[in-house]
Amino acid sequence: MLLHLEDGVLVVTINRPAKKNAITAQMYRALADAITEADRRDDVRAVLLQGEGGNFSSGNDIGLFVNAQASEHKASPAAPFLRAVIALRKPMVACVCGHAVGIGATVLLHCDYVVASDDARIRFPFVDLGLCPEFASTLLLQQVVGRNKAAEWLLLGATIPAAEAHRAGLVNRVMPQQAVGEEALLVAKCLAAKPRQALMATRGLVRESTEALVQDSLQRETVAFDTLRQSPEAQEIFRRFLQRTPATLAVRT
Ligand code: COA
Repeated sequence: MLLHLEDGVLVVTINRPAKKNAITAQMYRALADAITEADRRDDVRAVLLQGEGGNFSSGNDIGLFVNAQASEHKASPAAPFLRAVIALRKPMVACVCGHAVGIGATVLLHCDYVVASDDARIRFPFVDLGLCPEFASTLLLQQVVGRNKAAEWLLLGATIPAAEAHRAGLVNRVMPQQAVGEEALLVAKCLAAKPRQALMATRGLVRESTEALVQDSLQRETVAFDTLRQSPEAQEIFRRFLQRTPATLAVRT
């Protein structure tokens, strides 16, 4: 992960391009620390989340789901990251290029502004992986895009092009690939320059009404997710993905 501070914006770059920025346990810890630190530091007034190498993130490293490795982590390795993002009191902007899959898609529901490049492809692949959605996305996605669209995206797991995500309200703005980074940084800097107390108070008020529901949804999803993750059905899907057997193609539509 790469970090730099620019005009009050902490730019957090997920940096594992060879694996399309799939997130490992160590990366989750680093991301959680960076977000927690951003919340604490007075010189950080907004966060910009982006991915290195033309992709936002291909989500949880599927290797983490395999039983032998998962048993090393009593709680989900993603848990500190989810908690830090939900607790963050400062605005967060996402700059989405290429693939945004799994947690790379659900994290967008916690951002205040999402800029996507016209090549962005967003996907909620949980059912095809033998899992259920996480990060309170079963609640937040339907709030953002409506119940039927949320059901379509969560159950069918099709790849959502940037233009469709924009029409549905998940993405604020779609830009050509070469302009998206600059635009996202500009929005984050604009937020960072606003009166601090008023910005944080307004953001808090917007989120307050769903806070308890988000926690409840997160808890129920976590229980279901962990049960499903250990099922023979899901374990077989993970094994196929990691061994790149042809059936994996069904998971990657
Ligand atoms: N976990 C582990 N490894 C991953 C990964 C993930 N989530 N996503 C991609 N990778 C790895 C691939 O296995 C491959 O590794 P290799 O080069 O050692 O064989 C490498 O990253 C490149 O990925 P590849 O599949 O060749 O790229 P692509 O452009 O053809 O497809 C994706 C990109 C993102 C569509 C595809 O990799 C994919 O579907 N990944 C799984 C995403 C997912 O379901 N994540 C949610 C988990 S909840």
